[in-house]
Amino acid sequence: MIAIDGPSAAGKGTVAHALARKLRWHFLDSGALYRILALAALQRGIPLQQGSQVAALVPDLDIRFDPGDDDRDRIWVNGQDLTTAVRAETAGRQASQIAADPAVRAALLQRQRAFRQAPGLVADGRDMGTVVFPDACLKVFLDASPEERARRRHRQLRMAGIEAKMPALCEEIRERDVRDRNRPHSPLVAAPDAVVLDTTGFPADTVLSRIEALLTGPTDRLPRKAASGETDRKDSV
Ligand code: CDP
Repeated sequence: MIAIDGPSAAGKGTVAHALARKLRWHFLDSGALYRILALAALQRGIPLQQGSQVAALVPDLDIRFDPGDDDRDRIWVNGQDLTTAVRAETAGRQASQIAADPAVRAALLQRQRAFRQAPGLVADGRDMGTVVFPDACLKVFLDASPEERARRRHRQLRMAGIEAKMPALCEEIRERDVRDRNRPHSPLVAAPDAVVLDTTGFPADTVLSRIEALLTGPTDRLPRKAASGETDRKDSV
């Protein structure tokens, strides 16, 4: 079990997906589950602030991820291809609104854990290493400066044919950071035994190699269980 957490647009999705592919392991894009749930709530006219009503929708959602041609899976919900809607920036913002609600987080917990199947799982999110899979054998917290993350998001959206303005993207990323880091339930924080990698200025394949080295390298490069109060390891890639 490998947990990859970090803030918005830190490159987790690209790196975690590529790692799962290389290892031939399963892949969990936990953010997509929050996005899908937010979209499902809005489709049914449920306000996003109504956490318990939103959470109650989870058992009705039949969600399938199908490997696509690119580095992202196609997403099917109750037989409908929702890939484009789920990947849109608005869905990310809506996901971050419902994600602050403890009822929503609890409703999605088992769904996420069910992805853990042989031979292994690479999970990407905000609380994979802290809450959902605290016993993961490798926990990585990927970070990058907000400006770099806005540039990456801009490039990613452009490749998907979506135009976005850099100042607005920067603002959006900062807002999402504040909301994700300061919520009382499962805030975005590195697990005490996570390896923290600052990926600013490094392309995805360099980050991927670094994580692979953590998997195969000598034991002193593997994450240790930190004694309480011990500070995180923080490396640049
Ligand atoms: O792609 P990006 O990193 O911007 O977003 P995402 O991973 O799809 O997640 C969208 C939102 O869902 C995040 O801003 C979080 O608020 C929330 N989320 C969460 O709370 N816990 C997770 N494990 C995954 C996502």
